[in-house]
Parts: sequence; structure tokens; C-alpha cells
Amino acid sequence: MAELAETTQQAIDYSQRIPNNVDLANDRALQRALEHWQPAFLNWWNETGPVDTSTLQVYLRTAISVDREGWANFGYVRMPEYRWGIFLTPRDENRRINFGDHKGEPAWQEVPGEYRSTLRRIIVTQGDTEPASVEQQKLLGATCPSLYDLRNLFQVNVEEGRHLWAMVYLLQRYFGRDGREEAEALLQRRSGDLNNPRILTAFNEKTNNWLAFFMFTFFTDRDGKFQLCALAESGFDPLARTTKFMLTEEAHHMFVGESGVARVLERTCEVMRDKKLTDPAQVRAQGVIDLETLQRFVNFHYSVTLDLYGADISSNAASFYTGGVKGRYEETKINDDHSLSHDSYTVQEIENGKIVDRQVPALTALNARLRDDYTREIQAGIDRWNRIPEKFGVPFRITLPHSGFHRKIGNLAGRYVSPEGRLLSKEEWERHSSEWLPSDDDHAFVGSLMCRVIEPGKFANWIAPPARGIKNLPVEFEYVRFS
Ligand SMILES: [Fe+2]
Ligand SMILES: [Fe+2]
Repeated sequence: MAELAETTQQAIDYSQRIPNNVDLANDRALQRALEHWQPAFLNWWNETGPVDTSTLQVYLRTAISVDREGWANFGYVRMPEYRWGIFLTPRDENRRINFGDHKGEPAWQEVPGEYRSTLRRIIVTQGDTEPASVEQQKLLGATCPSLYDLRNLFQVNVEEGRHLWAMVYLLQRYFGRDGREEAEALLQRRSGDLNNPRILTAFNEKTNNWLAFFMFTFFTDRDGKFQLCALAESGFDPLARTTKFMLTEEAHHMFVGESGVARVLERTCEVMRDKKLTDPAQVRAQGVIDLETLQRFVNFHYSVTLDLYGADISSNAASFYTGGVKGRYEETKINDDHSLSHDSYTVQEIENGKIVDRQVPALTALNARLRDDYTREIQAGIDRWNRIPEKFGVPFRITLPHSGFHRKIGNLAGRYVSPEGRLLSKEEWERHSSEWLPSDDDHAFVGSLMCRVIEPGKFANWIAPPARGIKNLPVEFEYVRFS
């Protein structure tokens, strides 16, 4: 009896510890799977999450329910005690599949056998990016430009952790034993590991300074947004509802990136105006990041993120669509027959040594289409950035490189394309690539500016303070407490 009592006392009440709206308390099988997985997740967090942070108190938002008040609860939290929860947007009983061969049928509440392996692969691939980005960013806390930025980094990190939980929930709830094995494997792969890397290349790159972090959250988290939007259209309703809720968090990650780069631009332009400088070496001598280096970071992060969309022409993408598994961006707002059987789409390819447009069946070009949707939104962000040099009277403008620039995947993969879209010889490329992509010297320079600023309200010299604080708090609020 005594032994039993002790076991009962030690058992963790997971329905409490894991905030959720999936009725976890009444799903024993799922609870057991999560009980098994949670300690492994915490080990992963402690081993590869943000370093030296277990005692910090961070002013974080935690989702405790999906309603307006519940999803953004703010307060000081020690990160290992963060409550990673499972939330799906509420079910619409009448929801139907909106595209493909199953259009008009009720949305699936269980995984259809014929799409089981496809759905599992999609969920695993999405799930793999979440812990990967935490791993990529683990060292950044040591060089934070302010407490405000440190808090934002940690907010992004814990939410990427929650996104992993979201995908693991789907795997464990709907995919049986295979799903449990995939959930384990998600904690075993490591960003940049030669033997067991993360699935997608961009998630094995290093994010070793704050400029790279802001670029990553602007460019690569936005790829996350577009993938999640396409999955939010899925006929598999639990996936659609899970990804919809993830999108509410993703918006903040992209804000961190866009406003972060904007503040770097602002600081540089301010120095250039005040000191009447244009020469990048002189700009650097002032301890701020020259605009040419910023442009090279844009070129790098944009091009590696475009690769995440996969091949321009893809029979997989076509079958995901006809199967009702993955839709287009804003599928239900598009005014067409949602089957794409007679439509065409323009992609670029190389013909006789030239980049040319080609019409292909729209169904096969869904990756290219999603990537083009993404580029439109990125361009709008670049336009907002460019108002900053304009305001300071600095003639420089950030531009997006051609979609064929520096690509490893897609129709123009492995070709030598200049940022303006000119096809080059290998020799020409090698002569100029250091003007277009961040060099070791650029990384060393940006790295040399990184220093830890943790006095409330103070900011590193290379970045301007934000216009306002988090949740309308003052900029000098103590967003992270060191105790
Ligand atoms: Fe995420
Ligand atoms: Fe994100």
C-alpha cells in the first residue's frame, strides 16, 4: 500500500502540466505516450536549448488556451519550467475539404490509410524545423544587444519548442507506433550534425550572430508561415487546426526579424547621416554594420530559404494537392475550381544558355507558386525597410536577388546566376561571389560587434532601440531577471 501511495504521489499530473485543449485527461494512451516523451524533450532542451539560462526569469507569453485572453499570458518564467502546451483552433463540425479530388467531402478526423505515410512525412519534416532553429540559436544569449532582444530570442525559442510539441501531438495521437518512433527521432537529430543532421539544409546552417538571427526570423520563419498556411488548408482536420494556432505565434517571430533588421538599418543610417559617411570601411569604423554587408546577408538568407520550397516542378506537390493533404496559400480565398486540372503556371528554367519563362501544368508547379507567394510578402517587407534609408537621406536601397541566385534546389539549382539574374560562367561567379554573399571577413566583423548588453534600457551600439516595448511595457523594462 505504502509503495502504491508513493508511486501515485510521484506521478505527474500531465493534464495539468501540459496545458491543452485536446482533452488529454481522458485520453490515457496519448497521456502515456507524452509521459514517456516529455522527459526526453526536457533533456533535449537542457542539452541543446539556450545555454546557461536555467536560472533566468524571463518575461514570456505562454499559451494556456486558444481564446483571446488565454493564448497570450505574460509573466516571468524560468524556461525549463515553461509550460509547453497543445492547442488546436476549435473544431468546425461542418468543415469540408476545399480542394483536390476530395473537394466537398467532410474533413478527415482520422488519418486516411492512403495518405498515412504522406501525412506522416509532412508532419515530421515540419516538426524537424522547430527544434532545429532552437539548436541553431543556442549560443546567441551570450551576446544579446539588450534585455529586450534577449527576451524576444527566448520567446521565439520556447515557442519553437511548443511547435515541436504540436507536431509530436499529431504523431503520437494519430500515427501509432510509427508516430512514437518519429517523435523520438525528432529529439535525436541535431542541426549541423554530420551523422544525424536536421532534414532541411537551411536548418543545418549556423545562426552565430544576431544579424543572422534577425535575418533568419524574417526570411526563414516566414517560410514557416507559408508552409503552415498551406497545411492549415489540409483535409486532415487536426493538422489544419494545429497549424492555424501555430500561425498566431509565428507572427511574433517574423516581427522580431523584421523589426530587428529595421533597427540595425536605422542605427547605421543614423551614423551615416550624422557623420556624413558612405564608404563601408568608414561606416564599420563607427562600430555599426555597413549596408553592403546587410545586403549580402539578405542575399544569403533569402536564397537558402527559397530552397526550402523544393523543386519548382514536383509530382509530390501535385499529389499532396489532389489528395487534399496540402493546399495553396489562402486556398479558400482563391477564385477557381480548386482542382487545377486545366490551369498552367509560369516557372523559369534555362534554355540555350538563357533564363526563360515556361508555362507548365499548375498542378505540378505548386512549390513554385507557394515560393512566389512568399516572395511577394518578402518584397513588401523589403519595401518597408527601404523607407529607413530614405528617411535618413541615405541613397542605398536593399534589393532582393533574382530567384536563381545561389540556389541548390529548383530549376536553377547549381547554375551561376548574378543577383540581377544574369547567367554567369563559373569564373565570373568566383570573381564576384564575395561581393554578393557574406565572406569570412563579414562574419568576423559582425561577430566582433556582438557584445552582451544586459543593463535595462541599454542597447548595443550597432542597433537602435525599438519604438516600444513588449505588451506596451517601457523599453527599459527588466525583461530578463538574472538572479
Ligand atoms: Fe515554428
Ligand atoms: Fe517560428
